[in-house]
Amino acid sequence: MGSQWSRDKVYLRAKHEGFRSRASFKLIEIQEKFNVIRRDDNIIDLGAAPGSWLQVLRTLTDGRVLGIDLNPIAALDGIETLEGDLTDPAIQKQAQEMLGTVSIVVCDAAPKLSGHKSYDQARAIALGEEALIFTCNVLKPGGNFVIKSFQGVDFPELMALIREHFFVVKTYSTKATRKGSTEIYIIAKNFRG
Ligand SMILES: C[S@@+](CC[C@H](N)C(=O)[O-])C[C@H]1O[C@@H](n2cnc3c(N)ncnc32)[C@H](O)[C@@H]1O
Repeated sequence: MGSQWSRDKVYLRAKHEGFRSRASFKLIEIQEKFNVIRRDDNIIDLGAAPGSWLQVLRTLTDGRVLGIDLNPIAALDGIETLEGDLTDPAIQKQAQEMLGTVSIVVCDAAPKLSGHKSYDQARAIALGEEALIFTCNVLKPGGNFVIKSFQGVDFPELMALIREHFFVVKTYSTKATRKGSTEIYIIAKNFRG
């Protein structure tokens, strides 16, 4: 959490409500608007640390929830975690061994920023493509996928790829997203399988 934001209202509200980060409100908003997650879904959360989406997911489903991140995720009741790179086939295999196929994948992963806008955007899109490959390997037909991305020259390419695999694909900028950010969420429903 950068110091610029450390006292903003959304951050303070997240802390007050016991969430690990302000990102929690983005997923709550997406769920309210798009109804992506159902009560019996098993879910994989890619780029899940520190774990606020996992906290939200735990309240939305009675199914199993697995969080994966490069960084360790401090223990949360009823949540399984894997520490590793989502692009690593060994991690993908481990996730499949743990949960089998799932109905939902969410991905809030973002590479560390270098400060060079076009380079960072290209890396974010490349990570998004990797997350899509992961998702196509673990998602049940009819399943849903939510992924964070960043608008820029390569963004339409990622959208086109996602459209190949899902019947319904929309974009959404959350109210909790910082002003001026190019951050955008892609909501993909009904996996073609
Ligand atoms: C914005 S944070 C996610 C916040 C999380 N949704 C929450 O609510 O707490 C982005 C995360 O993506 C993770 N990440 C970036 N690249 C990754 C990769 N290749 N594999 C797994 N995690 C990755 C980072 O380690 C970081 O924790």
